[in-house]
Amino acid sequence: MLIRCCAQIALCFAVVLVAILLAGAAAVRLQAHALQEEDPAVERRISALLKEMTLEEKLGQLNQFSAGRPTGPGTGRADYRQMVAAGQVGSLLNLTGARETNELQRIAMTQSRLKIPLLFGLDVIHGYRTVFPVPLGLAATWNTDLVERTARAAAREASAEGVRWTFSPMVDIARDARWGRIVEGAGEDPFLGAAMARAFVHGYQGGRLDDPSSMAACAKHYVGYGAAESGRDYNTTEIPERLLREVYLPPFKASVEAGVATIMSAFNSLNQIPASANAFTLDQILRREWGFRGFVVSDWTSIRELIAHGIANDGATAARKALLAGVDMDMEGGLYLNELAEQVKNGRAVMQKVDEAVRRILRVKLALGLFDRPFVEDPGEREGLDPAHVELARTAAEESFVLLKNEAPAGRSAPLPLGRSIRTIALIGPLADSAGDMLGAWAGKGDAKDAVTLRDALADYAAKHQIRLLYQRGTEIIGGSDTGIAPAAAAARSADVVLLALGENAGEMTGEAASRASLSLPGLQEKLLEAVAAAGRPVVLIVFARPLALASVEDKVAAVVQAWHPGVQAGPALVRVLTGDTNFSGRLPVTLPRSVGQQPLYYNHLNTGRPAGSNDRPPRTGEEKFVSGYIDERNAPLFPFGFGLSYTQFEYSPIALSVHSLSARLLNSGSKDVRVTLEVGNTGLREGVEVAQMYIRQQGTSVARPVRELKGFHRLILRPGESKRLEFVLAKKELAFWNLDGKEVVEPAEVTVWVGRDSQSGNCAKFTIGD
Ligand code: NOJ
Repeated sequence: MLIRCCAQIALCFAVVLVAILLAGAAAVRLQAHALQEEDPAVERRISALLKEMTLEEKLGQLNQFSAGRPTGPGTGRADYRQMVAAGQVGSLLNLTGARETNELQRIAMTQSRLKIPLLFGLDVIHGYRTVFPVPLGLAATWNTDLVERTARAAAREASAEGVRWTFSPMVDIARDARWGRIVEGAGEDPFLGAAMARAFVHGYQGGRLDDPSSMAACAKHYVGYGAAESGRDYNTTEIPERLLREVYLPPFKASVEAGVATIMSAFNSLNQIPASANAFTLDQILRREWGFRGFVVSDWTSIRELIAHGIANDGATAARKALLAGVDMDMEGGLYLNELAEQVKNGRAVMQKVDEAVRRILRVKLALGLFDRPFVEDPGEREGLDPAHVELARTAAEESFVLLKNEAPAGRSAPLPLGRSIRTIALIGPLADSAGDMLGAWAGKGDAKDAVTLRDALADYAAKHQIRLLYQRGTEIIGGSDTGIAPAAAAARSADVVLLALGENAGEMTGEAASRASLSLPGLQEKLLEAVAAAGRPVVLIVFARPLALASVEDKVAAVVQAWHPGVQAGPALVRVLTGDTNFSGRLPVTLPRSVGQQPLYYNHLNTGRPAGSNDRPPRTGEEKFVSGYIDERNAPLFPFGFGLSYTQFEYSPIALSVHSLSARLLNSGSKDVRVTLEVGNTGLREGVEVAQMYIRQQGTSVARPVRELKGFHRLILRPGESKRLEFVLAKKELAFWNLDGKEVVEPAEVTVWVGRDSQSGNCAKFTIGD
C-alpha cells in the first residue's frame, strides 16, 4: 500500500515536473514567437494599449533622447524628466547606474498617464564594466562561442543597472581601414561577419529576452555604412544590389535569423537614398523579405540629417519620409515628437504607420518583460570587477592576438616565445603603459583603472623570473617630441630583447569620426621604431591599433603582433602569449595592406580581365605592363585575410570530395550537397589552435564570382602529434549567388575548393556543377 502510494506520489511529481518543463519550453517558444512570428496574445495586449493612447502618447513612444554624456552632436535638451512624465519619451540612451535608471523609470511608471516603461539603451559594444577586446579583435578569435560568452557577460553587467538595450553588434562589412569604425565590426568578410553577428545576438539576448539579465541587441548600421567612399566617416555609398545582397546584407540577415530585437538605420546615403529613409532596404528587404518584427531606431539625428542629404527641405518632411520608409524611433532628433502630429492631422503621414511603429516598440518592451519588471535592484556601486568576467576578458584578449611574424635572425632562434635565457627586457613605446587606450573605442562603463597594461603585467613577470625590465615611453602616440627617442634606443642596446608597443590611441584615432588618410604609425613612432631597431637587438613590435599599413617598418623588426585594443586584461594576456604560457591562436579578420594607396583591399575581389597574377611586383615592362596593378606598389597585401602564426606547425592532408560532379537542379532543390573532408594534424612540439578555413571559387557562371569566398571554418585544438578529421558541407546555402536574373540560385559552374590556413594558401580540389 505504502509502496503504491509512494509510486502515485512519484508519478504525480513526474507529471507536475513534465508540465513545468513543458510550460517552460512553451514559454521559450512563446518568447521566440512574439518577436519572430505573430503571437495573438501579445498582439491583443498591444492593440488594447494602442486604443487607450492619444496621438501624442503614441508619438511619445517613438522618441529617444540622450540623458547622459552625448555620443553625437547634442540637441541640448535637458527637460527629459518633464518629457517622460508627459509620456513624450519611449527610450533614453547614455544613462547608466541602477539608481539613475530607476529614478527615471519611476517617473514613467508613476507620473505618466499610461505607465509605459522606458527602455534604456547604451553602446555596450565590447563589454560594460569589464571591457573585452574591440569587436575586430573579438572577430580575430574566430571563436563564436567565446564571443557569445563576452556578450552574455556584458548583458549581465549592463542589465543589472537597468540598461536592457545595447546598440550592438555593429555588423557593417568594412573593406577599407581608413574608416575608423572598422574596429567596431567583424572585418571584411560576410561569412565570418554573419557568424559573429549570430554570436553577439545570442549572447546579449540569451535564451529568453525576458530574462532580467538579457538585453535587446541592435544590429547596425543598416546598411552599407562600412562602404563609405574613401573611408571617410558618414560618406556616401554606392552599392549595386548584387553586392549589397552578397556582401553587406548577410550579417544583418543572420542577425534577424538569430532573433535580433532591433536594427539601427545608418547615416549614409545608399545609392542616393539615405539609409534612414530607404524603403527598399527597410521595408522591402528587412520586413517583407526577412519578416523582421522588431523595431528600427534611427542613428543619432539621422532623420534630421535627411535635410542635409537634400531629400527634405524641412523637419516635417524628413520625419514623414523616415517614418514611411520604416524607421520606428527617432534617436535624439526630436522630429517625430515635434512634427508628426501635424503631419497626421493634415493626412500627409499615414496614421497606420505611426500605429505600426508604436506596436513594434511595445512588442520589444513586452518581450523584455519591462511591463512586469520595470525596475532593477540597486546593489550600490560594485567594487572592482567580477573575477569570472576578468578571466573571460583575459582569455578573449589572448585569443584575439595575431602573431604576424616571428623570424629567427641567422644563427639565432625566433624572438618569441621569450626564451628562458633572457635577463633584460626593454619595454618601449607610448602604448606600453597607457591604461585608457587598452579599453578601445566605445568602452561602455569601462574604467581605465581596471585595465592592466603591458608594463604592469611585465613588471610582475620580470620580478618573478629575476629579469631586469627597462621601460622607456620613447615618444607620444601623436605629436610629442623626439627627446625620448635616444634614451629608448639606449635601453634597447642594453637589453636581450625589445618589446615595442606602438599604435593608435583609442579615443581619437579609432571608432566614430576617426577616419584617417594615412595608415602609418602616427606621430614620431616610426622614427622611434627605426632608432630602436638600429640598436641591433631583436625587436618584437606589438601594434595596438586598427589594421595599419606597415610595409615600411615590418622588415626592421623580428616579430610582429597585432594586438588591436585588447581590453582590461591587455597586459596579463600579452605576457601569457609572449612568454609562451599560452599559444597564439588569432587569425586576421581583415586584409592588412602594404600601403594606404591599396585601399580598399580585400581578399574576395573579382579577378578582372587582366589579373597581375604572379607578375605582382613592379616595375613591369613591355607586354607585362598591361595588367591590373600599380607602377609603385604590389597588389598583394602585407598579410592576407585569415592569416596568423602559431608556436606549433600544422599539416593539411589532401582534400577528398564526396562527389566530383552533380547537377544544379539537385543542389537547388536541397536534395544534394558536396562533402569536403580532410585531416589536419599538429606536427610541432606544443599544443596549438588551428583555424581551418574553406574557400571556393566558381567559374563559368552568368556573373563573375570572387577569386575566393570563405564558406566555412573549424577552430581546432590539437595536441602535438594529434590530427583530426574535418568535414565541411557545400550545399545550396554556400553555392547559390545572385545571378544575372536577380535570383539567388546555384548555377552550372566549375568549382575550386581550398581548405587551408588563410585566404592565400590551402590544398585544393575541383568539382563540376552541371545543369
Ligand atoms: C552614433 C553611432 O553611429 C552609433 O553607432 C551609436 O550607437 C549612436 N551614436 C548612439 O551612441
